[in-house]
Amino acid sequence: MRWYDSNARSLPWRVTDGSRTDPYRVWLSEIMLQQTTVAAVRPYFERFTARWSTVEALAAAEDAELMAAWAGLGYYARARNLLACARKVVAEHEGSFPCTEAELLKLPGIGRYTAAAIAAIAFSKRAVVVDGNVERVVGRLFAVEQTLPAAKAELYRLAEKITPTKRPGDFAQAMMDLGATICTPRAPRCGACPVSPQCQAFHLGRPEDFPRKAPRRAKPHRQGRVYWLEHEGEVLLVRRPAEGLLGGMLALPTGSWSEALAEDGVPAAAQWEDAGAISHVFTHFSLTLSLACAIPERRDAQGIWWPVDRIGEAGLPTVFAKAAERALQWQSGLFGR
Ligand code: ADE
Repeated sequence: MRWYDSNARSLPWRVTDGSRTDPYRVWLSEIMLQQTTVAAVRPYFERFTARWSTVEALAAAEDAELMAAWAGLGYYARARNLLACARKVVAEHEGSFPCTEAELLKLPGIGRYTAAAIAAIAFSKRAVVVDGNVERVVGRLFAVEQTLPAAKAELYRLAEKITPTKRPGDFAQAMMDLGATICTPRAPRCGACPVSPQCQAFHLGRPEDFPRKAPRRAKPHRQGRVYWLEHEGEVLLVRRPAEGLLGGMLALPTGSWSEALAEDGVPAAAQWEDAGAISHVFTHFSLTLSLACAIPERRDAQGIWWPVDRIGEAGLPTVFAKAAERALQWQSGLFGR
């Protein structure tokens, strides 16, 4: 805690003026930080809180508006749950987040980690907060031999043992900051660590070997086609089904994504030109999309026709933003013609 008092990262969701931490900001930051780095979250958090400064304001947002604002942050189920959660807090809790882990767990998008983080950080409840950073710090402190993910239960048990009653929110964030800035996955800076004297992995002389991990399977690779259909300065977009990958987001039309390249999903008969390919890595697979572009004379397809010169405002997920960028390069003659 002494280390944290002088080394805490200055982050937009941390209040420095001594006033009580706003549960809305804590909740929003914790949802954004799931599976996502602090550096990626920072600008999104600033934009969201400037636009929706309270949970009531967020609950009143349009679905499409919120999904577009989330574009680029990934894991889009989080955005759908964010809205569902805000609406539930307003409808059932008079706009105040509940303060216990058990009540928080009943809200959409809030799992064990997030419930604990909000209870500790926003409400100063003693809660055991274990994210990837904390797993690493604890795994090293106790030189846990069991491999992840099986070791999660043991890491949680050990984290519970060292979680204090005093300042639990600061303790949780101190562990996270230690993991993010000193006890890093590679080349940890043990010389600057306040707890290296107590660290068993440090004493073994090979902190990087912890926490141990079960060998990872190689990611499967999929491929598919993505289509850029342009007519009179507008491009055809579609809204993806609410469930599933990139659910509820605006997108370019695509065919199926599978091991072998399928030629399905063509949005209209046209003279399609090959405009190269883009790649993207998702959590469970990597993807190569071959881009086909066409600018036909007639508008034969149904969907959302979006102005090409405002494509940056459509809120496309990163994989489609990459395809759009490639299409604009094709169009300006850098590719293909
Ligand atoms: N990662 C997740 N939540 C965090 C927080 N409150 N501070 C720093 N890193 C985090």
